[in-house]
Amino acid sequence: MDKKDKRIRELELLLAEKENLGNIVDVLLTKLSQASDPDQGLGEAFDMITQTYGWDRMDYFGLDGDSGKLFIKVSTAKNGTVDQRFGMNEGIVGKVLARGEHYLTNDVANDPNFLFYRQQDKSNFQGKSYLAVPINLMGRTIGVITFLASREISEADARVAEDTLRFVTPYLQLVDSHNKLKNVIEYNEQLSIDNLTHQAVLLDTMNPYTAGHSVRVTDYANHIAILMGLDPKTSEHIQLASIWHDIGKRRVSSEIIKKPGTLSAGQIDEMKFHPIFGYEIIEPMLTVPEPVKKGVKYHHEWYGGSNKGYPTGKSHSELDHNPMITGVVSLADAWDAMNSERPYRKPIAIEGALTELRKNRGTQFNPEVVDAFMDNSAEMILLTKRLMRTNPDNLNFTNYITRLQTPFHKAQD
Ligand SMILES: [Fe+2]
Ligand SMILES: [Fe+2]
Repeated sequence: MDKKDKRIRELELLLAEKENLGNIVDVLLTKLSQASDPDQGLGEAFDMITQTYGWDRMDYFGLDGDSGKLFIKVSTAKNGTVDQRFGMNEGIVGKVLARGEHYLTNDVANDPNFLFYRQQDKSNFQGKSYLAVPINLMGRTIGVITFLASREISEADARVAEDTLRFVTPYLQLVDSHNKLKNVIEYNEQLSIDNLTHQAVLLDTMNPYTAGHSVRVTDYANHIAILMGLDPKTSEHIQLASIWHDIGKRRVSSEIIKKPGTLSAGQIDEMKFHPIFGYEIIEPMLTVPEPVKKGVKYHHEWYGGSNKGYPTGKSHSELDHNPMITGVVSLADAWDAMNSERPYRKPIAIEGALTELRKNRGTQFNPEVVDAFMDNSAEMILLTKRLMRTNPDNLNFTNYITRLQTPFHKAQD
């Protein structure tokens, strides 16, 4: 090959390189503009880089803001990754983080710094070579990207990888900003959630007949969930749906809410909108699980439907919801109503309330929930007597506020 041919070949390679980089940048920009999930966009860009350059796998180790340790944020691993954290100087990635320079090894089996993939990784990587490149942004190392290969990695490969990553770095920064923004939104939403619980409790106190109602309903519902041995996620959803079940009364006119006497037919009709109003209030809250929202919407629906409940009159089996949540919340709600005084009647004695549950088993109430209640009626009666004796102002709802701190995105899977 003469000098001219060699130069042409070099230029061709350079052109191919630029075209590859151009394609990667195109993918990044497209993903960024769609940006509903930047991590996924980054994953797709990584897939493209691994295919283009013949890597077996790529991982992005980002910094955890609290601990300052590195962990895998995005990976092309087919079988998932193990959550392992690396501090400064721990393993290869920790060393790259500390020094801000790339690390290349072509013999991972005998590299004492290679801590990660050998034992821990689900993909059971059997390759021989490993390259870790720091992500530097404005003089600061913000993460490490690693490349695994079964072939030998040369210093020239490392330079190409570093060049490629220069295009990825601004995007990584955007992904981090996006995640920070997501955290801020979640934090704000948590505030709204706590606020909503306070409002639910306050709403009840606007009328002496309903003071303490939502807190008692939540205590009954929580107790029934325990007796039924429901799983922790469903139990948490039941608590949330219970404490908020009447939150829609916020949109019913206060004249009706505060009215000490019996409601007129027109006022009852307005009141019957409260499950829908409640659903509309919490529906936009992205981190509140859908089954909780539906529990609020359907807490006045009858188990057997037949147009007895509202707002739809459908049976629990016809509704799009978690029937166990609706079943428990609606029974706890009715149980508290029966045991409380109303403007138009004295509280039904506990024996009478138990008879009502038995009588309406399978029509108004979910039979499974009624059975759990009846099988443990002594315990439920004790709880009822204790709650009914407690001044509503002294009912403790802070328990539920604390439980509401559980991150919903984790409770939703
Ligand atoms: Fe209600
Ligand atoms: Fe209620």
